[in-house]
Amino acid sequence: MEYPTIEKLIEQLEKKQAVVAAGGGADSVKKQHDSGKLTARERLEKLFDAGTFTELDMLVEHRCSNFDMATKHVPADGVVTGYGQINERLAYAFAQDFTVIGGSLGEMHAKKICKLQDLALKMGAPVIGINDSGGARIQEGIDSLFGYGEIFFRNTNASGVIPQISVIAGPCAGGAVYSPALTDFVFMEKGSARMFITGPEVIKAVTGEDVSAEALGGAMAHNATSGVAHFACDSEDELFAKIRELLSYLPQNNMDEPMIVESDDPADRADDTLAQMVPTNPNKPYDVRDVIRSVVDVGTFFETHQHYAQNIVVGFARLQGHVIGIIANQANVMAGCLDINASDKGARFVRFCDAFNIPLLTIVDTPGYLPGTAQEHGGVIRHGAKLLYAYSEATVPKVTLIVRKAYGGAYIAMCSRHLGADMVIAWPQAEIAVMGAEGAANIIFRKEISSAEDKNAKRQEKIEEYRDKFSNPYQAAQRGYVDQVIHPKMTRPTLISAFAMASAKRERRPQKKHGNIPL
Ligand code: HXC
Repeated sequence: MEYPTIEKLIEQLEKKQAVVAAGGGADSVKKQHDSGKLTARERLEKLFDAGTFTELDMLVEHRCSNFDMATKHVPADGVVTGYGQINERLAYAFAQDFTVIGGSLGEMHAKKICKLQDLALKMGAPVIGINDSGGARIQEGIDSLFGYGEIFFRNTNASGVIPQISVIAGPCAGGAVYSPALTDFVFMEKGSARMFITGPEVIKAVTGEDVSAEALGGAMAHNATSGVAHFACDSEDELFAKIRELLSYLPQNNMDEPMIVESDDPADRADDTLAQMVPTNPNKPYDVRDVIRSVVDVGTFFETHQHYAQNIVVGFARLQGHVIGIIANQANVMAGCLDINASDKGARFVRFCDAFNIPLLTIVDTPGYLPGTAQEHGGVIRHGAKLLYAYSEATVPKVTLIVRKAYGGAYIAMCSRHLGADMVIAWPQAEIAVMGAEGAANIIFRKEISSAEDKNAKRQEKIEEYRDKFSNPYQAAQRGYVDQVIHPKMTRPTLISAFAMASAKRERRPQKKHGNIPL
């Protein structure tokens, strides 16, 4: 018997690899590029540190024999999977290859993704999933449904253990949308991303409604309206750069701490402009992002979920090099009221930070929960309770800064001392009360006002009286619910000291299988 030479065997291997690396072939790749999209392998190149990506399961083959599939070679079974370094740390990623039968998901395609999820969970490193697919591979029937189910199960298992990030860079329809929905952050590319359970044709047939794919499930539909997605990017270059930036704020897993990045920004930096940034007139708006930027290490504020529920701002930043998560009422939008969407957004962010050992800074300026039947019937009680639940459950260091209004239930909900804040700091213009002075005076002094000769003068007098007594931080400070009232310019040094004080915190909750957050 004559054995093949090693050269022959290597040639054979390289031939197989070249066929797979070509994906769906030159025509399909051209179609992909012409539609403004990168190929799966090009995307992975942009995501990982240069030259660090190792592909797994390149030679996997499907075993479907339905229709004409028995004769069809499906390179890499339509998905590229592997690992590499992002910011010099281990990460796993899969990228569906639309050039190969539309990136559709069959049995082996799903098995490759599941293997990657299992590896990432074992090694404790983030997973990034790049979705660009026509959905379940129709020829494979139940084998593709099985695949989706197995992926969802693993997404859930890994939730709170390793960061999971999804990219929508093409179609993602039907049940396929639920894997991204189970992950922590969803990125969408503005030109090509489409996400929906049922597409425009089905909607037209069932309800008669006419809607374009973009309006139904494009990047801004899910970033601004549904809240399903957290980032809308103008290009794939921007998208992958943003993922790398996001990962720089996250630990590798729930047993790890985020990276500390030394900062030149002095810890004792006072900022005189802060005193004027939040007007003492409680009805005057301002952008809370200005407050955040002036306090954190210069240039480190990284906002997430920017387009959704803009009455609350959430994001990561660094204080003296240490990562914190920030939740802040935005006075510029709806006066910083809490509503259903803001509660959902805030609560989910708090839970993410708590799961991944990221201390929480809450900046409070809110007149309360938004009134109205739409809110009440939409379940603001249930949704608002999520914020209370998330803060109460969180055991990471929690520091709260009250810069102006903190009224009623919203005062409690925004990480008050009563929900376990380790340190509560207030500015002199803080108003910590059951409600605003005008509303309060109108209720408790109603008789006095209505029987006065000059009702307006009496009303003003009573409003002033209430404001002097309660619309300040001092009653709360007298009770010890506020630990410090500070000059605004001293906010950065005070916060750095507070987080340093709380950094060794160990707090336990009762043992349980899991709680029952009001979903
Ligand atoms: C098999 C598929 C496919 C699929 C696309 N292709 N989707 N093959 N199963 N689901 C193939 C096409 O036949 C075509 O092959 C190639 O991929 C490229 O597709 P095009 O249609 O030419 O591309 P485009 O015009 O860009 O349209 C993309 C598309 C469309 C909008 C995604 O392909 C489409 O509507 N596909 C079907 C979507 C769908 O109904 N999927 C099942 C959803 S149900 P050739 O050989 O011609 O190049 C589902 C259930 C999951 O996913 C449940 C989980 C719980």
